[in-house]
Amino acid sequence: MSHPTYPRLFEQGRIGGMVTKNRLVQSSLCDNMSDRNGAVTDQKIAYFRRKAEGGVGWINLGYAYVVPRGRGCTYYMVGIQDDELIPGLRRLTDAVHEHDVRMGCQLAHAGRQTTHHYIHDMTAEAPSPVPEPVLGEVPGELSGERIKEIVREFAQAAVRAKTAGFDLVEFHGAHGYLHHSFVSPMTNRRTDEYGGSIENRLRFSRESVRAVRDAVGSDFPVGYRLSGQDYFEGGITLEDSLATVAMLEDSWGQPSPSKQPFRQTRALQPPSGSPTCDHGNIRLTRFEPPYTEPYVRWCGGTGSARARTYPIKVARRPVGGSFRARHHSVTKLPGCSANLKEPDT
Ligand SMILES: Cc1cc2nc3c(=O)[nH]c(=O)nc-3n(C[C@H](O)[C@H](O)[C@H](O)COP(=O)(O)O)c2cc1C
Repeated sequence: MSHPTYPRLFEQGRIGGMVTKNRLVQSSLCDNMSDRNGAVTDQKIAYFRRKAEGGVGWINLGYAYVVPRGRGCTYYMVGIQDDELIPGLRRLTDAVHEHDVRMGCQLAHAGRQTTHHYIHDMTAEAPSPVPEPVLGEVPGELSGERIKEIVREFAQAAVRAKTAGFDLVEFHGAHGYLHHSFVSPMTNRRTDEYGGSIENRLRFSRESVRAVRDAVGSDFPVGYRLSGQDYFEGGITLEDSLATVAMLEDSWGQPSPSKQPFRQTRALQPPSGSPTCDHGNIRLTRFEPPYTEPYVRWCGGTGSARARTYPIKVARRPVGGSFRARHHSVTKLPGCSANLKEPDT
């Protein structure tokens, strides 16, 4: 099968050791179908089985919290914070693999974007005690020691994901969560080596990706989802995101080429050229032909609902572009020895 405008869409793709039967990706979605401990339920397995039957090449399990304090604002998120959760996650990946679909796991920590209700009456943890304007709570400032511990916790979670049969892990480095909040000067007011210059604000991300890469090995795909810009004064700029991408390339190795149709994603391309997934606002008819982008992430046209849930991400006043465009984010997959230009033979 071939798409008339985007002929590679249904071709096989490969990222590191992961081969996908086509280049359509079910973007990360928090589905609220886990139990209160973050364990996979039968309902969740049935849901993912149906998604896999739909024919995409790769499905991401959305927002899996790596530590209890990293759970976001729902009680029924999936967790990957404990070895006891591995058998349930394994049942999930087995169900998806039955349909020749690859499965990724998004590793996440909420940072300040949670409340004590969801994290067992603990205080949220963040780079700086900057109040969360929507949720109304003030996070505690992370000590240098605790930052190092979280880095290790991400690596442990990645190993759990690999053990549970996932084919890829992805950092949730977007949408105001912990990694994003380190990069953004709006939420990072630190004066130590984790704050100030862009190099310092990226230190936590750099340490995290290196720890995960070391833990999962060189051929296991590791992605990093990032928001291109905050669209708030004093927030992440496109230049910060370019620096993030350069940092990822540096941490993960040599890139391989790809093209992106969106302005922001294209802007993020030059320093790297590495595989990139585009999230959201995917309307195939809007791409500029010829479409050669290896992977397209598709959620299902509910981005504005998400934006309403997380208004901090979306300026109430328009700052150019459409409301939905401000929600646009991308995942970089550098250093994965990918050959996305040609189908795997
Ligand atoms: C209910 C819901 C849950 C979401 N959960 C996640 C998530 O866990 N991780 C993530 O990176 N993005 C998440 N997203 C964002 C989507 O991956 C996607 O980028 C967004 O919906 C825009 O795509 P669309 O225009 O096709 O809806 C979520 C979106 C929705 C609507």
